[in-house]
Amino acid sequence: VAPVKKICCIGAGYVGGPTCAVIALKCPQIEVTIVDLNKARIDAWNSPDYQLPIYEPGLLEVVRQARGRNLFFSTDVDAAIEAADLIFVSVNTPTKKSGVGAGYAADLAYVESATRRIADVATRSKIVVEKSTVPCRTAESMRTILEANSKPNCRFDILSNPEFLAEGTAIDDLFAPDRVLIGSLQTPEGVAACEALASVYANWVPRERILTVGLWSSELSKLAANAMLAQRISSINSLSALCENTGANVEELAHAMGRDTRIGPKFLRASVGFGGSCFQKDILNLVYISESVHLPEVAAYWRQVVEMNEYQKHRFAKTVVDTLFNTITNKTIAVLGFAFKADTGDTRESPAIALVRSFLLESAKVTIYDPKVPHEQIWLDLSETLPDWPIEKIQKSVTIAPSALEAAKKSEAIVIATEWKEFREIDWKVIYDTMKKPAFVFDGRLILDAPKLREIGFRVKQIGRPEVLA
Ligand code: NAI
Repeated sequence: VAPVKKICCIGAGYVGGPTCAVIALKCPQIEVTIVDLNKARIDAWNSPDYQLPIYEPGLLEVVRQARGRNLFFSTDVDAAIEAADLIFVSVNTPTKKSGVGAGYAADLAYVESATRRIADVATRSKIVVEKSTVPCRTAESMRTILEANSKPNCRFDILSNPEFLAEGTAIDDLFAPDRVLIGSLQTPEGVAACEALASVYANWVPRERILTVGLWSSELSKLAANAMLAQRISSINSLSALCENTGANVEELAHAMGRDTRIGPKFLRASVGFGGSCFQKDILNLVYISESVHLPEVAAYWRQVVEMNEYQKHRFAKTVVDTLFNTITNKTIAVLGFAFKADTGDTRESPAIALVRSFLLESAKVTIYDPKVPHEQIWLDLSETLPDWPIEKIQKSVTIAPSALEAAKKSEAIVIATEWKEFREIDWKVIYDTMKKPAFVFDGRLILDAPKLREIGFRVKQIGRPEVLA
């Protein structure tokens, strides 16, 4: 197989950016060009002072080393397609908002338009790799589009290579992945294309971690893996509700369960609920696929994982209202953290959005502090979640604060929505003195030392811990 010399990645987002930057770093002999239609995003990737469009620990160092050497960012999609031997399609695949399958199915419009672009532009054979998370058999649609529109003597081999990185630890995950999964047709050409991509990863990933499977297994594995991960969170969260009502402690429960090697200790952390652009979208996609092939019981089973997550967010917001003497009208709630998890600035499906929304609907005032989320993003998310509220109305009720201390000043309650490390290290005594009394803390991420806070004078509620009021 001819070695891959030039790679193009369509989509410079949370996946395309870090993934292909790491490929460039680890494979100095390969020229990698990441392209996007979004000029602002490309400009940010190219900014002389490295104001990258996404925050990810370690990413800056990777880009610093590879950018301009063999890593390039560009809006010239066509030129990069034409030059490449191998093209990653790493565009967004959000849940459809309207039409057939609205609210469940994946919107493949971006994948299709990228695929059509490849067919229009390419004048020689290419390997086309699905990096985006897509429904099962999308590779078949891609092949049909490519073959129907290609020029003579152009062959397209389609591979599925879903990405398993987790935001917040993307660079570590990419440096040392648990596995790299490559799906291909089991034809001689398919297997050869698979080997070409495997050889790229083999520059730094041990061969035994590069799994090669059939196309459809590869596509479905990504949805299945995310469904299983989210299922663990919903399972522990359902138990957290039981804990709060029985005197059991969800952390003791998780510890005891996790010691069973069949269960394992990871991903058993109770919280206000999962967020992020993937879990909910991918499960809904799985639900949609199950329904389309007439498996309603399978669909109902996985749908419940999302419903439990909605329940958990709602339950936590209700705890806040109930505890603050059944009304939060005109009270100030400080929400610490707005990103969907620590170490990222990404707010897609962040539980913080749902929490702030419910507080605003109860006529509370809300102050928000997050170390990484840009202010414009917070306003955008709140406008989207409250479409009937003009932005002026939102801005009357919400203040974005420059620090946790500022957010907490004169507030009635603090709500921990994201597990940022700095929230553990706050001087809680200083915060306590600035707050109205009784001062409440609601720990939606189980990161605080509740006994210590109670000693200071706080009234503390934690997810999945029995209620002990100071
Ligand atoms: P994103 O929204 O951050 O990035 C996608 C980019 O593609 C955008 O910048 C958009 O402008 C660009 N784009 C869309 N259509 C284009 C076209 N025709 N030509 C050029 N550029 C185009 O999305 P993200 O988070 O990177 O996700 C991409 C895919 O990877 C999705 O399918 C997602 O499900 C999957 N994924 C995401 C993970 C995550 O942690 N965010 C993890 C694993 C998979």
